[in-house]
Amino acid sequence: MSIVLITGASRGIGAACARRFARDGHRLALLARPSPGLLALADELGALAIECDLADEAQIHAALDTVELSLGPVDVLVNNAGIVHRHTVQGHATADWDHVMAVNLRAPFLLARGVLPGMLARGAGRILNVSSISATSGTPGLSAYCASKAGLLGLTRALAAEVKAAGVVVVAVSPGSVETDMLVGSGFAPDMSPEDVAEFIAFLAAAPKAVTGASVEVFG
Ligand SMILES: NC(=O)c1ccc[n+]([C@@H]2O[C@H](COP(=O)([O-])OP(=O)(O)OC[C@H]3O[C@@H](n4cnc5c(N)ncnc54)[C@H](OP(=O)(O)O)[C@@H]3O)[C@@H](O)[C@H]2O)c1
Repeated sequence: MSIVLITGASRGIGAACARRFARDGHRLALLARPSPGLLALADELGALAIECDLADEAQIHAALDTVELSLGPVDVLVNNAGIVHRHTVQGHATADWDHVMAVNLRAPFLLARGVLPGMLARGAGRILNVSSISATSGTPGLSAYCASKAGLLGLTRALAAEVKAAGVVVVAVSPGSVETDMLVGSGFAPDMSPEDVAEFIAFLAAAPKAVTGASVEVFG
C-alpha cells in the first residue's frame, strides 16, 4: 500500500488513474481545482480531495502540506494535470503562454521538489510525469503545449539522473490521442481510452527500477 498523489484527478486520465490505483488498495490524494466532480470521485474512492490551482505556487505548497499531514509522505507522484491553449505563435498572448508553462511544467517541478526530501530519506519513490507525443511531434497551434511537454521530458531525464542512485524512479509517459475533454476540438480521433493510459501508468508505478529516465510513447 502506497500513498499516491494524482494531479488533474477530477476527470479524464487523472480520474482513470485514481480508479486504477484505488483497485490496488493505495491511499490516494486527488488534486484539481475545486469542482463537484473532484469531491464526488474522492468520496467514491475514499480518497483525500485536494483543491488546488497548480498555477499558484503557494497553493501547491499548501496542498503538499495537507497531503503529508493527512496521509503521510507521498510514495508515488503522478504529475498528470495539463492544459492547452490553442493559438498560433503570432496570436499567442504572453499570459496564456505563461499559464500553460505554469500548469504543465512548473507545477510538476514544484511538486517533485516538494515530495523529494521524503522519497530520498526513504530511498524509494516514483515520480510519473504525463507528457504527450506533442512533446516531439510539433502540432500547429499548440506551441506552448508542445514546449511545455518537451520541457517535461527534459525535467524527467535530468531529475531521473539526479536521484537514480538514491532509489527514486522518474519516468515520463507520452500518450497519443486519448478520449477526454482535452481532445474535443483538436481534430484528432482518439487512439485509446483514459483507462488504457491509467493501466500503463499503474504498470510504470510498479516497473523495475531500470525504467528510470525513460519516456514511453503509448498509442493504444
Ligand atoms: N487527451 C489526450 O489526447 C492527451 C494526449 C497526450 C497527453 N495528454 C495529457 O494527459 C494529461 C491529462 O489530460 P486529459 O486528457 O485527462 O485532460 P482533461 O480531461 O482536460 O483533464 C485535465 C485535468 O487537469 C486538471 N487541471 C487543469 N488545470 C488545472 C490547474 N490549474 N490546477 C489543477 N488542476 C488542473 C483538470 O482539473 P480542473 O479543470 O477540474 O482543475 C483535470 O482534472 C494532461 O497532462 C495532458 O496534457 C492528454
